[in-house]
Amino acid sequence: MQIVEKYSEWASDYQENQITIVYDTMWNGTKELAERIAEGIALEDSKVVVKIYNVAKRDINDITTEIFKSKTVVVGSPTMGNNILHSVAGLISYLKSLKFKNKKATGFGCYGWSGESVKIINELMSNAGFEIIGDGFRCLWNPDEDTKKSAVEFGKQIAKA
Ligand SMILES: Cc1cc2nc3c(=O)[nH]c(=O)nc-3n(C[C@H](O)[C@H](O)[C@H](O)COP(=O)(O)O)c2cc1C
Repeated sequence: MQIVEKYSEWASDYQENQITIVYDTMWNGTKELAERIAEGIALEDSKVVVKIYNVAKRDINDITTEIFKSKTVVVGSPTMGNNILHSVAGLISYLKSLKFKNKKATGFGCYGWSGESVKIINELMSNAGFEIIGDGFRCLWNPDEDTKKSAVEFGKQIAKA
């Protein structure tokens, strides 16, 4: 019965007090944003568990398990070829098939000129069944000190959402 009860709990829009940040990057600008966003979340809410993963470097099943436990997932990709990185697109595609419920999401990422990545992430995550909070966070090229501070503030807003 213990196993049946656990299954029932996990199948009922399961959620812990966790926010997971997942990203990929070419030149580490989006990684820097991920770290500042995590800092903001932790400053706003010291009780929430915050985890960060580079989707290109961790097993997709490990990351998905963490997202399963989360109330919010923050997804980052720079813009590349008017699109998002394939690693991030692959993760979102997998998330769609898992049909998670009761979870929020928002996007972030660096760009150089057209900057579509955040809009694309938010559209894909909405399509995968996540409730999108806000418009996300964009950064032109690499984050300077002001942008890093804004990313911390963005993290605080996510913790409050
Ligand atoms: C191959 C390649 C394609 C890119 N395509 C776009 C693009 O279509 N639109 C855009 O706004 N920026 C584009 N960029 C610029 C990156 O988004 C920008 O350099 C960003 O700061 C990279 O973020 P990162 O440090 O997280 O990798 C491109 C960069 C590379 C290397």
